[in-house]
Parts: sequence; C-alpha cells; structure tokens
Amino acid sequence: MRLWQPVGIRQKCGETVYKEEIFSSEPRTIAITSGKGGVGKTSIAVNLALYLANEGNKVTVFDADLGLANAEVMLGIIPPYSLYEAVYDGMPLEDIAAQGPLGVRIISGGTGFLEMANLDHVRRQQLLKMFKQYSSSNDIILIDTSAGISKNVLGFAAAAGEIIVVVTPEPTSLTDAYALIKIISNYKLHTEVGIVVNRSADRREAMQTLRKISNVVGRFLSININFLGWIPEDKYVSQAIKRQKPYFLTNPNSPAAKGIGGIARVLTNSEKTATVGFWNKLMGLFS
Ligand SMILES: Nc1ncnc2c1ncn2[C@@H]1O[C@H](COP(=O)(O)OP(=O)(O)OP(=O)(O)O)[C@@H](O)[C@H]1O
Ligand SMILES: [Mg+2]
Repeated sequence: MRLWQPVGIRQKCGETVYKEEIFSSEPRTIAITSGKGGVGKTSIAVNLALYLANEGNKVTVFDADLGLANAEVMLGIIPPYSLYEAVYDGMPLEDIAAQGPLGVRIISGGTGFLEMANLDHVRRQQLLKMFKQYSSSNDIILIDTSAGISKNVLGFAAAAGEIIVVVTPEPTSLTDAYALIKIISNYKLHTEVGIVVNRSADRREAMQTLRKISNVVGRFLSININFLGWIPEDKYVSQAIKRQKPYFLTNPNSPAAKGIGGIARVLTNSEKTATVGFWNKLMGLFS
C-alpha cells in the first residue's frame, strides 16, 4: 500500500515522468531525529515501523546511528550483515536486510556509510543501483538517526523526504531541538519538520511542549512545524526494551502504542510525494 497521494505529472529535462514511475522507484523516506539524545527516537522508529507494516505497508528501518545498532536490539534480532558488506562485497541489500516481525526489514548502516567515501566511480554507481533496486520494494523507509547536529545526522535529515524531530517536555530537550530545527531552517534542508512529543505526563503537557517549540520557531525561523502527535510516559516502553519485544506487539493497547497509532494516522493522512533522489543525495554526502 502506498501512503502518499498522486501529485501529478512532472516535467524533468524535457521528458515526462509519470506518477507510476515515481511510485515504483521511490519510497517515502522519513528521518527520525532529535537534538538531545535518549528522547525515544529508536523506540518510536521501531514501533511506528511495526504499526505501518501491520497496516499493509512494506517498511524498512534504516539504522543510521553509526555507533550503536539499537533498532536491532529493540527488535531482538541480530542482523548478520550491515551496509559494509554492500559497500565492500557488493552484497545486495535484500540479503543484508534482516527480517523483523510483521515483515519489517532492518538495515544496519554500521560503518558502511563512512566506507562509501572510499569507493571509485564505478563501485559508487553499482551501489546506487543496488540502493534503488532495494528501495523499489518498499513503501516507507524510516531512518533512525543519532541525536544532535553532527554532519551525519544533518546528512540523513537533508537526504530524507521528511523529517521528524522527537522532543520531550524537558527544557534541555526543547533547547536542543530548537538548535537542530534552526540549522534545518537556516540551511533550507526542509520547509517543514514534524514534531513528536514523547514521554509527556498527559495531553496538556504535550500541548504545552508543542506550544513552546512552535512559539520560538515561529518567532525566529522560517520553517513550518507539523505536529504529528504525542506519546505518554509509559512503563511498557522500558519493559519492552528490556525484553527486546516491541510494545506494539506485546501491549498493543498500551498508552504508548495508542500514541504511535495516532502519529501513524497523521503521517498516512498527510499528502506527501515520494522522495526523489534519496540515495543520490545520501551518497553525495558520504563522498
Ligand atoms: N514513552 C516513553 N515512556 C517511558 N520511557 C520511555 C519512553 N520513550 C522512551 N523511553 C525510555 O527512554 C530510553 C531511550 O529511548 P531510545 O533509545 O528510543 O531513545 P533514542 O532517542 O533513540 O536514544 P539515542 O539518542 O541514544 O539513540 C529507553 O530506554 C526507554 O526506557
Ligand atoms: Mg536511538
């Protein structure tokens, strides 16, 4: 099932590109980021992926945290390969992707992204072809990034079609989120960021948090804020992580799972076009 709505036919280099062509080759790519670390990005990426897969979408979680492979740990799977094997051994991404529950696939970036910088032109073109081939079998790629404003995080944020910034009500989370959004806005990486408020005591606190970030962004930056939803503080989240079984599977009626459902519905109801050129942009960044 494709999530975005038709956007019409584009003219590119004098050649007509039909909607079907865009649809068949480019999935929706959504980078999940945050200013501050430990705010819930990976947990949200994993459970959102499962929710979307359960709705009939073909979903891949791209673990782009170059240091830690947390998405895999949360799903209780150990991918035998990472992007490194694709870069160095030419292993197809279909073989690298580990199978998770509900058909969700996980690709572990590992140090593979950094290794891309060492490839010659021919190998880069081969890799790009492999990336595109893999993409065509997906509806959505969720990119779980590390926190902060490093070149890597901003690279994934820039390449992805959409960006979600996860915040918690803590003041430090808000100031760090603002710093990240400021860079996205100043460098014109996106015209809109999605906001998810995580670990909120209740709806009121989530709305207060949203208002704080919206007010300061509205005053100083020219970027739109799109509120995607909120997830309450929920004991099932850490319980699920400890057991390496996502709460969407073990506790689908938990408050956190309901929050994920709300976010997924907003995402799927929004009219988005397929991301064009995600892999090209990403490879350009790591060259
Ligand atoms: N809604 C929630 N309710 C309770 N605890 C939560 C919630 N969301 C996240 N946590 C806790 O926060 C911790 C960090 O979550 P997670 O690893 O998903 O964050 P992260 O943003 O990916 O971190 P990092 O920046 O290190 O990659 C988890 O161990 C979990 O226990
Ligand atoms: Mg993480």
